[in-house]
Amino acid sequence: MPSPILTVADARKRARGVLPRALFDYIDGGADGEVTLAANERAFREVALRPRMGVDPEVDLTTTVLGRELAMPVLLAPAGMVQLVHPDGAVGVARAAAAAGTLAVLSKIALCSPEELAANAPGPHWFQLNSAGGREEVKRLITRARDAGFDGLVVTMDGPPPGNHERDLRHGVVPPVRPRPALAARFAGQLLASPRWAAAMALAARKQKATVQGATRVLGSGGLHRSARFTWADIAWMRAEWDGSLLVKGVLVGADAIAARDAGADAVIVSNHGGRALDGAPATLTVLPEIVAAVGDTTEVLLDGGVRRAADVVKALCLGARAVLIGRPFVYGLAAAGQPGVEQVLSVFQTELVRVMRLLGCASPAELDTGMTQAMHPWT
Ligand code: FNR
Repeated sequence: MPSPILTVADARKRARGVLPRALFDYIDGGADGEVTLAANERAFREVALRPRMGVDPEVDLTTTVLGRELAMPVLLAPAGMVQLVHPDGAVGVARAAAAAGTLAVLSKIALCSPEELAANAPGPHWFQLNSAGGREEVKRLITRARDAGFDGLVVTMDGPPPGNHERDLRHGVVPPVRPRPALAARFAGQLLASPRWAAAMALAARKQKATVQGATRVLGSGGLHRSARFTWADIAWMRAEWDGSLLVKGVLVGADAIAARDAGADAVIVSNHGGRALDGAPATLTVLPEIVAAVGDTTEVLLDGGVRRAADVVKALCLGARAVLIGRPFVYGLAAAGQPGVEQVLSVFQTELVRVMRLLGCASPAELDTGMTQAMHPWT
């Protein structure tokens, strides 16, 4: 009888128990010394919440993000390779998100095509892409996403190059990480492969060819020539190509949030890629106020990185985020128990959010504001 998932830490523990060590480390790890990875979580512990008494709110977590009504202010961040973690893959993730009344962003390298996702999971659907392949590839993917009914595009700006993932390198896993025989051997060699994981790998390898051909072709050439990073001109170009919601992910400085908005983005996602890109980048919560001050009145600001508990969600919203995204927490849940594992993680957030909001004395996300926070250790 597996232990219940009462917290994200429980899901992480179970993921660690079932995955090959190299695959667990691929998910769990960050860049270089993992300073930013650790800082993301720590930043939430440095913020205290100031509960108000004398009120008994009926909590309603419903909110809107870029006009879409969501049952709670928690979305699922794009995560590559989820098909390797469990056969339920990105479809299971999206179904779990829909069941919880929220949405999951499909990573370009999730090993699931936009068409497959749209055919198998209820929307709304958002697609994430990066600069690999240049405008030609981006245009091809945008068209596919639009034709498949996707209505949000998340543009990841914080690479290339990918961060230096030392845990992966120690396992012999070298970027670009994708399910090819050498990688399978690396992961499998770590493990007493559970049959479920072996099945996931086999399915992922089969699907790779059919679903991410373009991405794979481009990623495969990554070692040969230097691929370009997106510029603000690319965002303006994308704005003209795409009439759905456009979100820019990876913003950490107020001036960049302004540049993203001026290039036509509808929202910015304050993100350091979960500590997987530039190690030494600031914890996302610490730069959120600067970004909200820069663009908060004209642009929705979302945040990811280090959100592990409902109180973290509430703190980010108090400091001006419209909603947060979680990455590792749902991937741990997927590894632990497939789609039901993701559902459990989301249900923990939902249940605990209601509790935290009621303890705080707040009825809805719209009521949260900076005045409800202070430093956890004001005298140090
Ligand atoms: C990611 N992330 C990511 N981001 C992105 O834009 N495209 C991608 O393909 C991926 N892939 C990916 C895989 C895995 C295993 C992880 C853990 C993360 C980053 C992700 O979208 C998000 O920014 C962070 O995961 C948020 O931090 P937490 O919640 O993991 O702390």
